[in-house]
Amino acid sequence: MKNKVTIVGAGMTGSTMCQILAQKNYTDIVLIDIIDGLPQGKALDISQAGTWGNFDINIKGSTDWKESANSDVIVITSGVPRKPGMTREDLLSTNASIVESVITNAVKHSPKAKFIIFSNPMDAMCHVALKSSGLAKNQIIGQGGMLDTARYRTFIALESGKSVSEVNAWVLGGHTEATMVPLISNASIGGVPIDEIMGKDSIDKTVERASKGGAEIVGLLKTGSAFTAPAFATIEMVESIILDQKRILPACALLNGEYGINDAFVGVPVTLGNNGIEEIHEFKLSDKELSQLQNAGAAVKELVKNLE
Ligand code: 2OP
Repeated sequence: MKNKVTIVGAGMTGSTMCQILAQKNYTDIVLIDIIDGLPQGKALDISQAGTWGNFDINIKGSTDWKESANSDVIVITSGVPRKPGMTREDLLSTNASIVESVITNAVKHSPKAKFIIFSNPMDAMCHVALKSSGLAKNQIIGQGGMLDTARYRTFIALESGKSVSEVNAWVLGGHTEATMVPLISNASIGGVPIDEIMGKDSIDKTVERASKGGAEIVGLLKTGSAFTAPAFATIEMVESIILDQKRILPACALLNGEYGINDAFVGVPVTLGNNGIEEIHEFKLSDKELSQLQNAGAAVKELVKNLE
């Protein structure tokens, strides 16, 4: 049986995801948007790229939710991006109503799908998605940590002068500047602890730049936020679910006691497979990191309370 992935939102992020996923050549893709013509046009353009891009899958653009029926994975990118000077939290109420309506429609046609939530503020949007869908917690997966981890690893590579493929470092916590937790205690380059290769100032610099990585790009682009690294990050998660790879990746999951956090969506290491979030892993953290993670849990709960 063929796989099916629906991407909701045919803007820069959604259409870039569609292109990257199309090149993988193992799943049909539906691109949904409310602006008639946009998803159809993007889908047609990407389909036509298959001739030379060596992929042969069905890509359908539509404004009709029926086209998304029986999707295995649904990625929600809908919502407004921030402009320079805005935080992700500033998007809370606008994007909450969009995510609520999107997930309600999507679940009607694909109750078994695994949902990857990308819309910001992502951690709070996971709560909105869970509450308005009634889905099981393993079906709601937030994307933020994958992107933040990519930024952290990139800056470590730039700062140390080593290949990014040798860097192993994780960002847990929330997908906001105030709640991101770039881990230092288990970061390494080529298996060597990071503090044996980089000085404290350099490490602090990468942590700071990773935490502000989204705003740095918003400030440069001026008209929207990053979309290429976010798209690659998200498609890695889609792949682990669709192909049941069971990779351990950072993702926003509903915690029930893990890390001493209850009833909050927080970025943690999870196993991603056919069943969505199949396991939550508890890394050994420093006391400071654990307390930062717990603060991230408290902050998202506070944000969600503002919505109620
Ligand atoms: C970012 O950090 C869009 O939240 C996303 O760039």
